[in-house]
Amino acid sequence: MTRISEMDEAAGTTRTTGRTALVELDDVSKYYGNVRALEGVSLEVHAGEITCVLGDNGAGKSTLIKIIAGLHQHDAGTFRIDGEDVRPASPREALDRGIATVYQDLAVVPLMPVWRNFFLGSEPRKGRGPFKRLDVDLMRRTTHAELLRMGIDLRDVDQPIGTLSGGERQCVAIARAVHFGAKVIVLDEPTAALGVKQSGMVLKYVAAARDAGLGVVLITHNPHHAYLVGNRFVLLKRGAMTGSHTRDEITLDELTRQMAGGSELDDLRHELAGGAP
Ligand SMILES: Nc1ncnc2c1ncn2[C@@H]1O[C@H](COP(=O)(O)OP(=O)(O)OP(=O)(O)O)[C@@H](O)[C@H]1O
Ligand SMILES: [Mg+2]
Repeated sequence: MTRISEMDEAAGTTRTTGRTALVELDDVSKYYGNVRALEGVSLEVHAGEITCVLGDNGAGKSTLIKIIAGLHQHDAGTFRIDGEDVRPASPREALDRGIATVYQDLAVVPLMPVWRNFFLGSEPRKGRGPFKRLDVDLMRRTTHAELLRMGIDLRDVDQPIGTLSGGERQCVAIARAVHFGAKVIVLDEPTAALGVKQSGMVLKYVAAARDAGLGVVLITHNPHHAYLVGNRFVLLKRGAMTGSHTRDEITLDELTRQMAGGSELDDLRHELAGGAP
């Protein structure tokens, strides 16, 4: 039985039956005063899968992340973690439930070494009582090993994290979440500011986290990036959900068309053509 479902997944089929989602939003809405930031949005995040959230500027992507991360609370609908109704009141609470969020403007201290940033706020110590001190060696070794495990061979973990490329910094943040036992990682447009090669590196890394059994929420406005790694695709537009598909239900072309606004794009094409001499 297991073998068959494994083969299905390898073939890109996504099964929902009988499995409790790590994270589930059901008909969730969020208002900022009169502004409808989200209305009636539903999604599922499963272990070993990537759920992509696609949408243009102002679609509500960041709002969605903030709800999952515990930064904001939803006004309507249901938010479940491991099948349990929740309303995390702070990022700390979400993290305690296994949800780690990597924001685009990564909260790192640029001048501190990579290993220092890796352990920021959770530094292991050695010794007892007054002799207690940071276990620097362990932190160095662990950082190097964890990055290597995900395919990044950093020669010098002592270099300031500010000297790493944007893509490498995203990868360090993901490795950190994995190391500290996250069950779900939420990534806010990790490839938005990156070129082709670095985007590829980050996506490879995201896929490695998925293969390690984590559930991933990948926010992006790039359907190509989403389709390279995604199992599920949720489309948002001005706060509303305009589509929700598993991988076997949609092609890259169709995803791209829906993302581009389909008929809107055709209208624009006519308009632009009309203006040409
Ligand atoms: N704190 C806030 N107070 C009032 N309105 C807000 C607040 N945060 C977001 N909004 C509004 O909610 C809507 C959705 O915003 P959100 O930031 O979630 O979009 P987004 O998809 O992340 O966009 P972008 O791609 O530009 O980051 C927008 O109309 C925005 O102006
Ligand atoms: Mg945003």
